[in-house]
Amino acid sequence: MSAPVPSDKPLRLGIAGLGTVGIGVVKIVQRHADMLAARAGRPVQITAISARDRTKNRDADLSNYAWESDPVALAMRDDVDVLVEVMGGHEGAAKDATEAALRAGKDVVTANKALLAHHGQALAELAEDLNRAIRFEAAVAGGIPVIKVLTEGLAGNAMRRVMGVMNGTCNYILTRMEEAGLPYDTVFEEARQLGYLEADPNLDVGGIDAGHKLAILAAIAFGTQVSFDNVVLEGIGRISIDDIRRAGDLGYKIKLLGVAQMTGRGLEQRMTPCLVPSSSPLGQLTGGTNMVVLEGDAVGQIVLRGAGAGEGPTASAVMGDVMDLARGLRLPTFGQPAGSLMQATPAVTSVPAPYYLRLQLADKPGALAKVATILGESGVSISRLRQYGHADTSAPVLIVTHKTTRDAIDHALAALPATRVVEGEPVAIRIEEL
Ligand code: NAP
Ligand code: HSE
Repeated sequence: MSAPVPSDKPLRLGIAGLGTVGIGVVKIVQRHADMLAARAGRPVQITAISARDRTKNRDADLSNYAWESDPVALAMRDDVDVLVEVMGGHEGAAKDATEAALRAGKDVVTANKALLAHHGQALAELAEDLNRAIRFEAAVAGGIPVIKVLTEGLAGNAMRRVMGVMNGTCNYILTRMEEAGLPYDTVFEEARQLGYLEADPNLDVGGIDAGHKLAILAAIAFGTQVSFDNVVLEGIGRISIDDIRRAGDLGYKIKLLGVAQMTGRGLEQRMTPCLVPSSSPLGQLTGGTNMVVLEGDAVGQIVLRGAGAGEGPTASAVMGDVMDLARGLRLPTFGQPAGSLMQATPAVTSVPAPYYLRLQLADKPGALAKVATILGESGVSISRLRQYGHADTSAPVLIVTHKTTRDAIDHALAALPATRVVEGEPVAIRIEEL
């Protein structure tokens, strides 16, 4: 890294994408031109822009910038030093423009987690071969500067675990279900009306968007090549208001939680619904806010909380990267040379944990004993058990297990139907120990 060198030579940005994030960046550059120049020791300017529709009204004065209808042409312009890629998508324009920029000798700042989750290693190698930088603070947890904290502030730590609620839409849906007592489908529709959902809602509620973010964090934390394909993904579509209430009775909240940790059996990466203690920082996180929890051997636990999306927060993160480049601060893409990133072996099973089980149990003598037997035969030990009042001929039963494996839980779930005392589908959700 080198110290900022005061200079009259501006850093010239080409912005590809003029949607929520792109316009947010334009507004910051226009609003804070003097402050940015003072901090960077040189002016930061936009020279050229690109989007699909030139005629769209974009709530910003873009008249001073050259227009390119092709983002690849924008990336290669002589008057562009840094491509700001804020179009989205992991193939097509975003990938082509990023590669073109690097090959033309430009640095790249992107907010595109899908691009990095799918092509992070190849892009990091390309950038390094060409002695260029790729920066992506906005790609993970929006306005929270977690990439900088992990890559720089915690560089002296062996990371133990990285966790987080990194999809604001899912956290909004789960919080709203709980607070308003509404079912998933109703709140999903509300979220759609409010414009919270991605064009493909499964990116949000299927855990894919948050999985992209987790894969990127895991690469930096554990010095591994990004391996999104090895993230165990489960969305929130099967979470019922019943489970949210029952978990609450037991002192837990349900969150779409990402967890990455290096275990003796390989790299564990999962983005799945989990129970977390209601009193924990993650348990108290409501609405569309994000939270990332970082655990290092020297520092212990750090909790970062803030807006994970939206024009201002995401543009703030993009500008943090732009300012580093303007100041001449350069780091390898994932915090260490791309060639030194290991190809991680994926852990086939997750670290043991307690589980929450909800069963609808027939009101028959010996029903509970049959369930206890199946759990015992599967190696699952009961820690707490609660039975609720009967509805007709059956009653809900909640079980919190001692630490066990997912395999043992799955073994028990597969054996339960044969008892003929469990009605419907039992629910099993991991309880994450914080
Ligand atoms: P957006 O509002 O949909 O804007 C996308 C922009 O890209 C639009 O201006 C669009 O042009 C332009 N574009 C798309 N395809 C193009 C192409 N082939 N050629 C030229 N321009 C193209 O998206 P966004 O919300 O700003 O998100 C941008 C990126 O930031 C994505 O990678 C997203 O995942 C990431 N991100 C977003 C947020 C957030 O809060 N929105 C948070 C974190 C990260 P038109 O306007 O002409 O259609
Ligand atoms: N769809 C994402 C979310 C946007 O809800 O968090 C930011 O990546």
